[in-house]
Formats: sequence, C-alpha cells, structure tokens
Amino acid sequence: MSHYIGILTSGGDSPGLNAAIRGVGKAALGKYGMEVIGFRDGFRGLAENRSVRLDGSSLAGILTVGGTILGTSREKPHRMLVGGKEQDMTDAIAENFKANHLDALVCLGGGGTQKNALRLSERGLDVITLPKTIDNDVFGTDVTFGFDTALGIATEAIDRLHSTAHSHHRIILVEIMGHRVGWLALAAGIAGGADVVLIPEIPYDVELVAEAIRGRVRSGRKFSIVAVAEGAMSKEEAAAMLDAQERKAKAGDKEEKQRAKERIKAIESGRINHTLDLAHQLEALTGLESRITILGHLQRGGTPSATDRLLATRLGSACADYIHEGRFGVMVAARGEGTEAVPLEQVAGRRKPIPLDHPLVETARSVGTNLGD
Ligand code: F6P
Repeated sequence: MSHYIGILTSGGDSPGLNAAIRGVGKAALGKYGMEVIGFRDGFRGLAENRSVRLDGSSLAGILTVGGTILGTSREKPHRMLVGGKEQDMTDAIAENFKANHLDALVCLGGGGTQKNALRLSERGLDVITLPKTIDNDVFGTDVTFGFDTALGIATEAIDRLHSTAHSHHRIILVEIMGHRVGWLALAAGIAGGADVVLIPEIPYDVELVAEAIRGRVRSGRKFSIVAVAEGAMSKEEAAAMLDAQERKAKAGDKEEKQRAKERIKAIESGRINHTLDLAHQLEALTGLESRITILGHLQRGGTPSATDRLLATRLGSACADYIHEGRFGVMVAARGEGTEAVPLEQVAGRRKPIPLDHPLVETARSVGTNLGD
C-alpha cells in the first residue's frame, strides 16, 4: 500500500494545476491517509531535493488560484543544466525518491512531462501522470486541463477585437497559442466568430485568405478577424518543414541528421514574426489596414474556469484512487465523464493534432469560416 506520495508540476504552467494538486492531495490525505510531499520547480526540485509538505492547510484556498504553488520548469531529468553543463540527473532523482520514502510520484504536465515520466518509470520508479496544457495536444486523453480557461480568454479577446476592427475597417490578426496544434485557435475562432482561422494542421494559401477578405469587403463587410495559431504555416513553409523532417528521419549518418535539424531550426526561427509578416502580406493583397494582437501568456495566467477546476479535481482525485490500487506507469486520462489509465508508452512522444475530419473543422467550414485552403 502506498503511504508517501510526491507531486511535481512540470512544463509551461496551466490554469487548473493547483486544483489538480489539491484534488490529488485531498483525496490522498483524507480518503487514504497518505502523506503528500510537493517538489519545487518540476524535476529540478526532485533532483535537488527541494520539497514542501502538503497538508490540509497548504492545500486549502488554492482551488481558484492560477499558476502552480509548487513552481514549474521545463527541465528534463536526463538533461539538466548543472553548473552551466548538461547532466543526467536521473540517479539523483531516484536517490531522492528513495530518501523521501516515496511510494509514488505524481507528475502533472503536458507532452514533454509524459516522456520524462516514462523515462523515470523505465528506471523503476512508480510514476503516474495527469495531462495539463492549454494546447490540448496530449495524446490519449479527451481533453487536458487548462484548455477551457485559455479558450475563454482567447474567445473574449476575439469578441473585443471585433468592435475595434469594425470601427476602423481593418483586418486584425490575433495570434493564439497552441504550440504545433490548432485546437485553441480553431475553438476560439469558432466561438468568437473569426472570419479566418489558420491552424498548423491545414497549411494556408495567403492568396486564398486575401480573397476571402476581399469577398467580405465586396459584400459590405470592410473588416475581418483572422485567428492565427502560433504554429500555423503557409503551404510553402509546411512543405519545407516536411522535407526537412523527412530528411531528418531518413538521415544516413550523424552529419546528415545535424544538417536536417539545423534546417528545421532555421525554418522555425524564420517564423518568429510570422503573424506580423502575414499582416503585411494581407495589407498588400487587400488594401486594408492591418493590426496584430499576440495574446501570449495572458492565455495561461489567472484563475481557472469552472470546467478546468472540475476536470482537474476529477482527474486528481482519480489519481489518488489509482495510486491506492497500485496502478503506475500510466496517465490518468479524461474519458467521457470518467477517467482511464493509459500506459505512458502509448502517450509519450506522441502529439494529438486536430484530425482533418474533426467535427470542429466541419463546423467552421459550415458557417463560412475561411481556413486558408
Ligand atoms: O505548451 C503551452 C505553451 O503555452 C504553448 O502554447 C507555447 O508554445 C509555449 O507553451 C510557450 O512556452 P514558454 O512559456 O516557455 O514561452
């Protein structure tokens, strides 16, 4: 039976993390009489043994608080910066797991965290994870907590941009987070009534976007809102990226692989101002004045929505049940109204892009939203 459990939050923060810590902690303490220890700043805190005891009073009042009370980092156990050099800290982590008499380690994180958790599980630690990220791109779960809050924020932003775009007869491009997937941009674009939505899953043709905007002008609507996922790519960029990725996968030797990696990096860094560049292109192609709004970390900050609090609490308390049952090496996935334990091997290293036949894609097209293709 598990007695001592450790919790850490890793990767970019996400609304609902504290609700999840509280969900795991309260159920572990109250239902099963376990002791709960939180580790600071993701895997780094576990490697450096920086911890805090989580009791009833430290878990009280955090349900509605944004961010994570434990702090987070993007550090990987096997590649951690120590004295300016990358070092494998897996042994230190395993030692601290033992030194704290842990029976289980709960890792709250997105795609990267699932990979790191699998590594620790393969090292013999009893690990269990929860899926969090505003991007909603974790494979194997219906949804991740953080997504709904970010969706509300991005939708409100689109709502607010409408009146100013309309008043000035402008195009306003709003850049929405999502890393390499378009869940947030597509959902917010539909909910906010964006005229164009550009997502990584559907490479866009700038001329088709411009023609959609010109069509609106011809029918008397002299403004347009364009929701641009941060990972959205033109057809040309997507083709160049695909080529580089294929070269990397097929590379016969180290040098060839390195060249392909550098090419990928160059394409990515050339896209730093892609929303601004697109605004300039659309301005030139339509003759309409354009502005951009980058929502950035506003989408990750602040109090979680009721839906995210519910989801995080549901997954967190189920996590305590799984620990009690001794089910490790799994992610607690949201499945319908319930949960499912999905083996980390099935989750790690995989992403969940929007399927092209997803109902949201169909819905956007049905209401006349231009998807750039
Ligand atoms: O994964 C969440 C996310 O907010 C992505 O949408 C975004 O690409 C990334 O993190 C930004 O990371 P950082 O906060 O480290 O700049």
